[in-house]
Amino acid sequence: MSKNLRFILGFALSMFAAASAQFPKAVVDPASAERGAKLYGSNCARCHGDDARGTTAGPDMIRSEAVLRDRREALHGRDLGPLLRTIPQHNFKFSDKENADLSQFLTLSINKILRSGYNDQPTNLLSGDAKAGEAYFNGAGGCSRCHSPTGNLAGVGKKYTTAALQQKFLFPGSGIRGATKLLVTVKLHDGKTYSGDVVRIDDFNVTLRSSDGISHSFSRTPGTVVTVVHPFAAHEALLDQYTDADIHNLTAYLDTLK
Ligand code: HEC
Ligand code: HEC
Repeated sequence: MSKNLRFILGFALSMFAAASAQFPKAVVDPASAERGAKLYGSNCARCHGDDARGTTAGPDMIRSEAVLRDRREALHGRDLGPLLRTIPQHNFKFSDKENADLSQFLTLSINKILRSGYNDQPTNLLSGDAKAGEAYFNGAGGCSRCHSPTGNLAGVGKKYTTAALQQKFLFPGSGIRGATKLLVTVKLHDGKTYSGDVVRIDDFNVTLRSSDGISHSFSRTPGTVVTVVHPFAAHEALLDQYTDADIHNLTAYLDTLK
């Protein structure tokens, strides 16, 4: 696809995404996904592969911005619609309902790919190595910047089924309606850094609650650097970094937090 076309498509997709912000989050509807599976099998699989992981004729969809956004925004079918009309290899004229079905199916198959092994059996989700997961949590994954196994993730393995747990760290926004909590990092002039949930913030002061539950307040004096981020930005960035093994290991580790 040409650069221009990509730009226009990206723009159109972001407009769709903006328009959808008011809609509640997605849940996969099994009946719709099943209709989508049939449409996928007869129209898409020959290029994108039976498992949506791509062939030489079409790309892997697991890293597709549009598909990932689609599943986040609950915009079933509305992001996919323009994609299916704009790409030259796509000569489709699906109805909105058919697009929604396809989108439901893709969401479901991506869940499966991310969980890997193409198996929904909870026991297989625990095939990872909890020790390696813990190392990733504290190291390469950077999870410990925001989480602590004895603080905000204490008991998380008890709180969710294994499948839900995995879904939670892969897509923490899903199922949370209108999550508004923001995260803030405050770097003081001496280099000391605090981060946590924003409790209160204005031009003069900032109060945050760190993962141990303690509140800290600061005056925004010159030399104090305050950075506010969207809570799920880090989780979204991680989607590009995890290997299947990281995902399995993390799940096994989080499951031990009972
Ligand atoms: C003839 C082969 C072919 C068929 C059939 C096909 N696609 Fe594609 N698809 C492609 C190619 C090639 C691209 C990449 C186009 C580009 O990036 O320039 C693509 C891109 C996509 C993308 C965007 C991926 C990204 O990188 O963001 C999605 C989503 C997609 N296709 C979905 C589908 C669906 C759903 C169907 C079935 C209804 C389908 N495709 C059928 C060849 C095909
Ligand atoms: C920049 C901060 C940040 C980083 C880094 C981060 N998370 Fe999160 N995580 C959050 C926020 C914010 C939430 C949403 C919490 C809420 O809604 O109460 C969350 C939610 C979660 C949840 C769901 C908790 C629950 O009780 O529902 C899990 C599990 C989780 N993260 C695991 C991880 C793992 C594993 C990593 C590393 C691979 C990670 N997080 C990296 C900020 C972060």
